[in-house]
Amino acid sequence: MILELVLVVAVISLLLYLFNENCRPSKFPPGVWRLPVIGSLPFLKMPLHEHFTTLSKKYGKIFSLYIGNFPTVVISDANMIREAFKLDALNGRPDSRVFTERSWGKKRGIIFNEGKDWTEQRRFALKNLRDFGFGKGTMEQLILDEVCSFREYLKKFTGSPVSLNREFNLPVLNALWHLIAGERFSFDDQRLRAIIKKLVDNFKAADAGGAIFFFPWFTKLAPKLSGWEAFFSVLKPTMTFLSEPVDEHRKTFNPDNLRDLIDVYLNEISKTTDKTSGFYKDDGDKTIKTVMLDLFVAGAETVSTTLNYSLLYLINFPEVQEKLQKEIATNIGSKLPSLSDRPKMQYLEAFIAETLRYSSFVPNGVFHCALETVEFNGYVIPKGTNIFPNLWQVHFDEAVWGDPKNFRPDRFIDENGHYKKNDNLMPFSVGKRVCLGESLARDEIFLFLTSLLQKFSFEPEVKGSPPSMEASKQGGLILQPQEYKVVLKERTV
Ligand SMILES: *[C@@H]1O[C@H](CO)[C@@H](O)[C@H](O)[C@H]1NC(C)=O
Repeated sequence: MILELVLVVAVISLLLYLFNENCRPSKFPPGVWRLPVIGSLPFLKMPLHEHFTTLSKKYGKIFSLYIGNFPTVVISDANMIREAFKLDALNGRPDSRVFTERSWGKKRGIIFNEGKDWTEQRRFALKNLRDFGFGKGTMEQLILDEVCSFREYLKKFTGSPVSLNREFNLPVLNALWHLIAGERFSFDDQRLRAIIKKLVDNFKAADAGGAIFFFPWFTKLAPKLSGWEAFFSVLKPTMTFLSEPVDEHRKTFNPDNLRDLIDVYLNEISKTTDKTSGFYKDDGDKTIKTVMLDLFVAGAETVSTTLNYSLLYLINFPEVQEKLQKEIATNIGSKLPSLSDRPKMQYLEAFIAETLRYSSFVPNGVFHCALETVEFNGYVIPKGTNIFPNLWQVHFDEAVWGDPKNFRPDRFIDENGHYKKNDNLMPFSVGKRVCLGESLARDEIFLFLTSLLQKFSFEPEVKGSPPSMEASKQGGLILQPQEYKVVLKERTV
C-alpha cells in the first residue's frame, strides 16, 4: 500500500516536472511552477505584490508565472520597467473579459485598448482635453471652484470623529466632468454617489490574480460563484448614467459651437467615413461611452485615494502636518492657493511624493500584454504574455531607498531644502501608457491639499493612537486604506 502511494506520488511529481520543464517557451524567464489549467495559482500567496517581492529575491528582477494558461512576467526593477514600456510590442492589454465586456465585447477607448485605435484615441482625447483647458488656467479655475465648495461642505463634519469615506470622489471628479460634459454634480447627488460606491467596491473586488480576470470559462460556468455577476452588476447603471449626457448633447449639437469633450466626439463621429476607424458611426458611439467610462473611473478613484492616504499620514505625523501648515502660512498666507504657489511649496511637494511612494496603491500597475514576441534582457517574452510591473517593490527597494518602511518626506529634500526628484518613483507608471491624467492629478492633489491644510487641522479619533497605515488586506487593482476616522478642526489663518 505504502509502496503504491509512493509510486503514485513519484509518477505525478515526474509528470509535473516534465510538464514544467518542457512546456515552457524557450528562454522564458525563470519562475514559479505551474499546474495544467490553473497555472501557478496554488503556489501564490496574497497579497500578491508582497509575494512577488519575495519571489523576485529568489528568481530575479524579471521572473515568470502562469495565471491559468497565460504566461506572465513580473518585472521589479525601475530601469527594466522603463525599458520594457518603451517598446510598442509590450504595450498591449491582456485579452480578458473584464476589459472587453465593458466596451461591447471588444477592446475600445483608452485604458484597456491597444494598437492603432488606442494610439488614435489617446491622442485625440489628450489633444481635446488640452484644448478645453486640461493643464491650463481654465482647469485650475474649475478645480478651485470645487475646492472652495468642498471646504464649505466639510465644515459640517468638524469637531467629532468622521469617516470621510468617498467624500473626496465627487469634488475630484467634478472638475474633469466639467470638461467632458459641461456640467458638475452636486456633492449629494445620490444616484452618482451610489454608482461611485459600487465602482470603488468593484475595483476592490477585481483581484489582480483572481478568477474574474483569467478564467473566462469559469466566469461563464459559474457567474455567481466566480464573482462575475457582482462585478458586472454595476456596469449597466453606470453606462445608462453616462449615456444620458451623450443623448442630451446629440439633441442640442451644433458643429459651429463645440461646448465640451462630448461635442468634440460627436463632431468627429459625424465627419468620419473610414469604416475601420473607432469613430465610425455605431463604433464611434461605443467609443465615446467607453472613453467616458475610462475617464470617469480614473478620475473618480485615484486622486481621492491619494488624498485619503495623505490624511492618514498627516494624522500619524502631526509634526509633518505642522511643518506643512507653516509652509502655507509663510508662502501663501490666507489667500486662495493657486498653482503659481507651487514652486514655493517644496516640502509639500516632498510630502506628496512620499505619500505616493509609501501608499503605492496601484501596486502592480495596470498590467500590459505582449503584442509580439520580443527579446528582452536576454530572455524571450512570447506574444500574449501578461506583464506586471511590480511598482510596489520598486518603491520599497532597500538598495534604492535605504529605509523604505519609514514614512519620511525628507528623503525627497536636498541639502538646500528643495524638492529632489527620484527616478525610482513611478506611481503613474512610465512609457507610452503612462497615466494620461498625471498632470491633472498632480494639480488636483496640490490644490486640494494646500487648501484643506490651510483651513483645517486633522487629528486621530484617539489622541496619541493614530490609525494603522497599512493598507486593507483586501487585494485588488487598488489598495485601499483600512477603515479609519478623523477629527477635523477648523483653523483661522
Ligand atoms: C479612507 O478610506 C477608508 C477605507 O475605505 C475609510 O474608512 C476612510 O473614511 C477614508 N478616509 C478619508 C479621509 O477619506
